[in-house]
Amino acid sequence: MSGARHLYVHLPFCAHRCGYCDFVTVVGRSGQHAPYVDALLWELELERGRLAERLETVFLGGGTPTFTSLSDLQRLLEALPAAEEVTVEANPETVSPELARALRVAGVTRVSVGAQTFRPQLLEVLERVAGPDDVRRGVHHLRDAGFDNISLDLVYGIPGQTASDLETDLEDALELQLEHLSCYELEAKPGTRFTHAWGAELARQADAMEDYFERVVACLTGAGYRWYETANFCRADMAGRDLRARHNLAYWLGHDYLGIGIGAVSTIENLRWRNTPGLGRYLEALAAGRPPEREHEPLEPDVQARERVLLGLRLDEPLPLRDLRPALDAEALARAERLGLAVDGGETLALTRRGRFLGGGVTADILA
Ligand SMILES: C[S@@+](CC[C@H](N)C(=O)[O-])C[C@H]1O[C@@H](n2cnc3c(N)ncnc32)[C@H](O)[C@@H]1O
Ligand code: SF4
Repeated sequence: MSGARHLYVHLPFCAHRCGYCDFVTVVGRSGQHAPYVDALLWELELERGRLAERLETVFLGGGTPTFTSLSDLQRLLEALPAAEEVTVEANPETVSPELARALRVAGVTRVSVGAQTFRPQLLEVLERVAGPDDVRRGVHHLRDAGFDNISLDLVYGIPGQTASDLETDLEDALELQLEHLSCYELEAKPGTRFTHAWGAELARQADAMEDYFERVVACLTGAGYRWYETANFCRADMAGRDLRARHNLAYWLGHDYLGIGIGAVSTIENLRWRNTPGLGRYLEALAAGRPPEREHEPLEPDVQARERVLLGLRLDEPLPLRDLRPALDAEALARAERLGLAVDGGETLALTRRGRFLGGGVTADILA
């Protein structure tokens, strides 16, 4: 085994829990930032044998990695293995000139800023701490610190949002001339406080999603961005750099990755496991030098093949079929081709532009 070349590190701490968020997060707990970083480094030590000698990517996701106390974040970054791409997720209000410089010095190569929207009333609906100017300021601080690979997250389908709000958000994002943009459909999990509060309006937004998606793609491709994944866009680089998110690309291409931290998922060869989301239990296990509690899921070859198709068809490059053919329903695929949704090239499979707009629906249909 040559080992995984991608490492995900989960930093769960946030200043506030946004109503729509379904990630593994913990509010505040400044007293636990240092023990948590200790635990992460222990877990890394225990799992190091599963990693390749040289890593391609490291991704610090959250939660709000940049809410972690700066000395602990720096200590973590210094101890992590080097990689060609090191990404940190940042909430705009946390990006001070000091933080931006510290990330740069610690070897971070890419920062992903969670803006969500630039409209103050929609930021309020999402219960975001940052205002629109925090987003712009944060990006400028990152540029001043020397970052030349910055990504921004937007969401659409926010209660109260109109198509023109979305268009203005896209214009505001384009003005920042970033290397990468992610635009996600807002997902509201049933049973959450957010869904309860905005039920009827969320239903109205759901009806508009297709139109929003088309506007996002039209606007960003019109501005010269490459629509390389369903929700992800990157700029063509003058210097010839490939500005796709390499870490996420590894997920979409079905490569092995190790995840450490609470709730983190790892997939290595034919096994997937998820760490306990409980902070206390995680800290306790690692303080005793034991791996945290985990749920294990063996991945049968047919499950892996279906996953490869589902994820691979999100990309704009044709999916090499090799041993994936048995995962496809030949009749459904022929029908999708007749409808102009997919192109079966024999060795490869791709969705057409129209197929990509229909996305998961087409893929679900052509799976055996
Ligand atoms: C793991 S989150 C954490 C990032 C950071 N804490 C923040 O809030 O900006 C990464 C991104 O996922 C997206 N996201 C979070 N919750 C979502 C939801 N319910 N539906 C769609 N996208 C969501 C947001 O765009 C967010 O920036
Ligand atoms: S700051 Fe980000 S991770 Fe934290 S609760 Fe809000 S959306 Fe979730």
